[in-house]
Amino acid sequence: MTLSAGNYGFAMNLHMVDVVGQYKKIKQEIDSAIQKVVESGQFILGKEVGELECEVAGYLGVRYAVGCASGTDALQVAMMALGIGAGDEVITTPFTFVATTETIVLLGAKPVYVDIDPKTFNIDPARIEAAITPHTKAVIPVHLYGQSADMDPIMDVCRKHNLKVIEDSAQAMGASYKGKKVCTFGNIACISFIPSKNLGAFGDAGMVVTNDVALGERMRMIVVHGSKEKYHHEILGVNSRLDTLQAVVLGVKLRYLEQWNSARQLSARRYDELLTETPVTLPYVSPACQHIFHQYTLRAPKRDALAAFLRLKNIPHAIYYPIPLHLQKAFAIAGNKKGDFPITEQAADEVISLPMHTELTDEHLGYITDAIKDFYNAN
Ligand SMILES: Cc1ncc(COP(=O)(O)O)c(C=O)c1O
Repeated sequence: MTLSAGNYGFAMNLHMVDVVGQYKKIKQEIDSAIQKVVESGQFILGKEVGELECEVAGYLGVRYAVGCASGTDALQVAMMALGIGAGDEVITTPFTFVATTETIVLLGAKPVYVDIDPKTFNIDPARIEAAITPHTKAVIPVHLYGQSADMDPIMDVCRKHNLKVIEDSAQAMGASYKGKKVCTFGNIACISFIPSKNLGAFGDAGMVVTNDVALGERMRMIVVHGSKEKYHHEILGVNSRLDTLQAVVLGVKLRYLEQWNSARQLSARRYDELLTETPVTLPYVSPACQHIFHQYTLRAPKRDALAAFLRLKNIPHAIYYPIPLHLQKAFAIAGNKKGDFPITEQAADEVISLPMHTELTDEHLGYITDAIKDFYNAN
C-alpha cells in the first residue's frame, strides 16, 4: 500500500525503536521472570546474573563473561584490567558514541584517532600503523551500526606491534565477521544492553567478554570494588554490577536474538529495494560480514533538509553522529582540529538513520520510503 506523504507519522505509530511493541509479544515470559526475582529478593548479583553470563559466553563462543552496569562501564573495566592509564595512548575511531573516547580520557590516557573507511564507517585498518607511537597500548575498533570492523588486518597490525585489542561491540550483538561472531577477536569485547540495542534490557546494563580467563577473573574483581572476598580489596575497582532484574530480561530476550536480527536484516533489504531509485547511498554490507543492522544508516544528499522534511511528517530519524569526537570540546586533549579526519567529517554531515527495530511492517517501510521519494522528487 502506498501512503503518500500526509501527516500520518503518528497514526502509523512509527518509532525509531519499538521496545514496548517487542515486550508485548513476550510479555508473559518477561513478567514471570521478573516476578521470580522480585519474590527472591536477590536484586544484586543473583544467580541469574551468573546464568546470563554463561548463556552469553556460550552464544558468542567465548570463555569468560562478566556482567556490569553499562556498556560505558564495560569499556572502562576492560581498560582498567589491561592496565591502561596515564601516559598511554589508545587508538580508536572519531566516528562513534562518546563512551568509547570518554573512558580512555577518564583513565588518564590519550585517545588517538584514525579516520574511517567511507563505505563501512568503521576504523580504516590501513591507517592504524601510522598512528602507533611508543606510547600506544591498545586499539579499540567499534563495530558501528551493527557491522564488524575489518578485524583481520586490525589483528595483524596489533599483533605486529604487541597492542591489545578491545572490541567495542555495543552496537553489534550477534554480528559476525568471516563466520565468527564479533566479541571473539580481541583481548576483550564490550557489550551494551541499553534498551535500544539489538539485545536490550529494561535499563542500563553491559558485559565484558574474553577468552583470557585471568583477564576475566581480573574484570570480575574490578566490577565489585576490586575484591574476590568481601572487604578484601586486592586491586582498584569500581561498583559496576549487573542487576538481577536486567539479567533475567536479557536471558529471555537472548533466546530471540537470532530471530530478531534476521527480522532487522529483512527490513534492511526491503528498505534497500524501496530506496534504490533515490539519490541516497544505501548501507554497504561487506562480503566478510553478517550485518545485524542495529541502525539502518544512509548517506543522504541535502541531509538536513531531508531530516526537516521527515520531522514534518512525524517520521522518526536520527543522526549518529553529528559531531565527530575529535571536534568535541571535552576531548581537546587529543589535540585535533577540523580537517584532521575528513572522511569522518564528511560522514557526520551526510548520514541519517531511519527507524530500525523488530516490529517494522511493510506498511511502515512503505510510508517512510515514500516520504523520502517525495522529498527527492521535490528537491
Ligand atoms: C559504540 C558504543 N559504545 C559504547 C556505548 C555505551 O554503552 P552504554 O550506553 O550502555 O553505556 C554505546 C551505546 O550507548 C555505543 O553505541
